[in-house]
Amino acid sequence: MKVKKPRKKKSNESNNSGIVISTLPTSLVQSDLLSSSLSSRVTKSQSYLSIGLNDKRTCKECHMSYLKNSTADSRVHNIYHQRIVNGREWSLSWGEIISTLSPNELIVKINSKKPAETKATLEILETVNQDLNAPDDNKFWLSDQDKGSVYVYIKNKTAIGIVSVEKIQNGRWFSIDDGKIVNDKSFNVMGGINRIFVVKSQRRNGIALSLLQHVQRFLIYGITIPKHQLAWSQPSFSGGKLASSFNGTKHKSGKILVPVYK
Ligand SMILES: CC(C)(COP(=O)(O)OP(=O)(O)OC[C@H]1O[C@@H](n2cnc3c(N)ncnc32)[C@H](O)[C@@H]1OP(=O)(O)O)[C@@H](O)C(=O)NCCC(=O)NCCS
Ligand SMILES: [Zn+2]
Repeated sequence: MKVKKPRKKKSNESNNSGIVISTLPTSLVQSDLLSSSLSSRVTKSQSYLSIGLNDKRTCKECHMSYLKNSTADSRVHNIYHQRIVNGREWSLSWGEIISTLSPNELIVKINSKKPAETKATLEILETVNQDLNAPDDNKFWLSDQDKGSVYVYIKNKTAIGIVSVEKIQNGRWFSIDDGKIVNDKSFNVMGGINRIFVVKSQRRNGIALSLLQHVQRFLIYGITIPKHQLAWSQPSFSGGKLASSFNGTKHKSGKILVPVYK
């Protein structure tokens, strides 16, 4: 299979405005909204309670709430903001190159036996979990490489996209429109997209699609996984859009179905 280089940016990603979100099932929108729940990290702290609400600032881009007069809080925000919006610095000695898309763009596979690349990858996944308000359940690739892999998209020595994918066997059809599994009948799949993330400044450039095409080619040696045999773990709003575009199928009812697992 020919893996295409992502196309140039056509337009800015539409922000998930309240109007769009309000028309969608809750299960699909929670993940994109949840970044606002990051504020709980700050609001729960004892010191915060004694400080006026006016001292709190919520970043419009990364949605993190922090105390504007606290140097420690600002530092935490700056690191988080950088990782969500622009990406994390990446050493070119980290990861095995599986694809060179341009002189400045690579996709690498992480070797969990190598501490430095593993540490950087775990930091990125932690940021992704915070953004999605998702549980810390993406360590399957650490103990046993046979359980799955993590691929990182590098541009200009910065990690701007990541996908963690599990080797799984059973998928079910999920209606993006209803936010529900359509029936309990399972079918065979080969991979489960545990997390997929692209930094905000690089979205809608085809980077997630490129990562998925590499998963198809590289997850299982010698096989190109058919698209419908890659299932999704609880698609978010933008994840649901990506899933519909990548491997959505139109049901006779007219609804778009995507494969999911767990
Ligand atoms: C979902 C996500 C990974 C998509 O990354 P991306 O690099 O912007 O996706 P792509 O550019 O490859 O999108 C491919 C196609 O998917 C669809 N798509 C992706 N994101 C979309 C969005 N927010 N709104 C509408 N369509 C979208 C479009 O059809 C797009 O093609 P187009 O740009 O030609 O219209 C990114 O928005 C993200 O990191 N979101 C936060 C994390 C998250 O929700 N992950 C998914 C968990 S299941
Ligand atoms: Zn921010």
